[in-house]
Amino acid sequence: MSKRQVLLATRNAGKVRELARLLADQSVEVVSLADFANAPETVEDGDTLAANAAKKAREASRGTGLLALADDSGLEVDFLAGAPGVHSNRFMGRKTTDAERNAEILRLLAGVTAERRTCRFRCAVALARDGQLVGAAEDTCEGRLAEAPRGENGFGYDPIFYLPDRDCTVAELSADEKNAVSHRGKAMRRAVALLRDLLNE
Ligand code: IMP
Repeated sequence: MSKRQVLLATRNAGKVRELARLLADQSVEVVSLADFANAPETVEDGDTLAANAAKKAREASRGTGLLALADDSGLEVDFLAGAPGVHSNRFMGRKTTDAERNAEILRLLAGVTAERRTCRFRCAVALARDGQLVGAAEDTCEGRLAEAPRGENGFGYDPIFYLPDRDCTVAELSADEKNAVSHRGKAMRRAVALLRDLLNE
């Protein structure tokens, strides 16, 4: 199979790393919006992760001739009625750091028992070509909010996302271990089947 380009519709270096690794076996050359300096920023104003992923993929694919792949992910905390959810990247405003957001979530959960600290990562993946949505997939990873941040790997909310089965946070997993269990890894494995068909058309 010849190498074909897939455009990852993100500038987030952590996501590019993870998505590129998940596509490593697919004989595709991965580029991202970081390679397209003039690409406009998509306004993520959808009501759902799936709507935002679709919008990002459609906008990135427009004018490039490439198959674009976008993901939109969020952390859903049951004690916070599913927040930050679709607003995960705007939680507390745009200028906060990951560490500040993690500290704020732990503050909001202070004193809450382990049983009530349930949460999940959710990931929606969208594929688009020439401005049209051509595929979509979604999956989740269940866990509990940690009592304190732990681990140096991954990005975003990983240090406060505790996996009871493994007795560690997502930030304590290696990249391959995270991809095996994560919302993005699972959603991407569904999307890769669609991607393969689209590239072979
Ligand atoms: P978005 O999908 O780029 O809109 O990301 C939403 C927010 O969720 C950002 O603050 C990310 O840092 C965070 N996020 C997305 N995926 C992950 C992940 O795999 N681990 C931890 N945080 C994540």
